[in-house]
Amino acid sequence: MEEPINKFIKILVTGAKGQLGRCLQDVAIRFPNYDFHFKSSTDLDITSKAGIETLFESEKFDYCINCAAYTAVDKAETDQEKAFLVNAEAVKYLAEGCKEHKTILIHISTDFVFDGAKRTPYTEEDIPNPKNVYGASKLKGEHYVQEILEHYFIIRTSWVYSEYGHNFVKTMLRLGKERKEISVVNDQLGSPTYAGDLASVILKIVSSKKVRYGLYHYSNEGVASWYDFAKAIFDKIGNEIHITPITTLEFPTPAKRPEFSVMDKSKFKNIFKVETEEWKDSLNKVLPLIK
Ligand SMILES: NC(=O)c1ccc[n+]([C@@H]2O[C@H](COP(=O)([O-])OP(=O)(O)OC[C@H]3O[C@@H](n4cnc5c(N)ncnc54)[C@H](OP(=O)(O)O)[C@@H]3O)[C@@H](O)[C@H]2O)c1
Repeated sequence: MEEPINKFIKILVTGAKGQLGRCLQDVAIRFPNYDFHFKSSTDLDITSKAGIETLFESEKFDYCINCAAYTAVDKAETDQEKAFLVNAEAVKYLAEGCKEHKTILIHISTDFVFDGAKRTPYTEEDIPNPKNVYGASKLKGEHYVQEILEHYFIIRTSWVYSEYGHNFVKTMLRLGKERKEISVVNDQLGSPTYAGDLASVILKIVSSKKVRYGLYHYSNEGVASWYDFAKAIFDKIGNEIHITPITTLEFPTPAKRPEFSVMDKSKFKNIFKVETEEWKDSLNKVLPLIK
């Protein structure tokens, strides 16, 4: 039987109270014809296989957008079991649910699957080699999705911030109020990405109805160090705090991070016909929402 042309698209969003989940809730307002089911960690704990099965059996979702993740990169070094449970095993349960109920999974992954040894942007063909537990757990999650499903999109993104939750921008704004000078790492390069831009392109994937499933890289455009990122924040808000650029060696963290994790977005841009916003333009757009 042919599907009705205007069939409601039913979308499950997990981890709905995280940065990306909250931004998806904002962007969802522009899609009144979609039936969104936003589930926070208390509504749906993705580490509960039974919880996923019950939900998938009671509702028939066309898409599942997995925004749930264990994102505490440093804490993951000593909390390996939990990081792998949420970022890998739970993703397997979601993928199994999606397979059984013919749901398309849109799963979010990270630039931290790479070791950062390259000096040109990472493509989807580059071989991952995570330097930390978080990256390894996210990579295992990707592998489960690829092994279990044919109908999936994995979107790797980087350096995510927003007006919601905890992130680098909010930390800098807080430090800007507390201190007259700060030191920020200047030898790790990546692409800051506004979660709201990512949310918009995710829904563009859904609305495009393109079935070009697979692995994609998406971030805002351009390259920055954490020092550049901090400087842009303080320049924009007119805070003259003194920022000292330092090396990673001078600021040791429990988790090692890639020196270079800029991603090549051409596959994503070509297939979904999207323009990627410059990271500074997005930052300037978001800062007034945070202050
Ligand atoms: N943040 C970044 O810089 C960054 C960079 C690259 C890629 N990513 C990826 O982008 C995606 C979105 O990240 P984000 O920044 O939006 O993360 P976030 O703000 O930390 O949100 C993650 C959400 O997942 C929820 N969650 C954790 N464990 C869960 C569980 N067992 N069941 C259900 N929900 C659970 C959390 O809920 P509770 O708070 O209640 O635990 C939280 O609301 C993630 O896949 C992340 O790995 C993020």
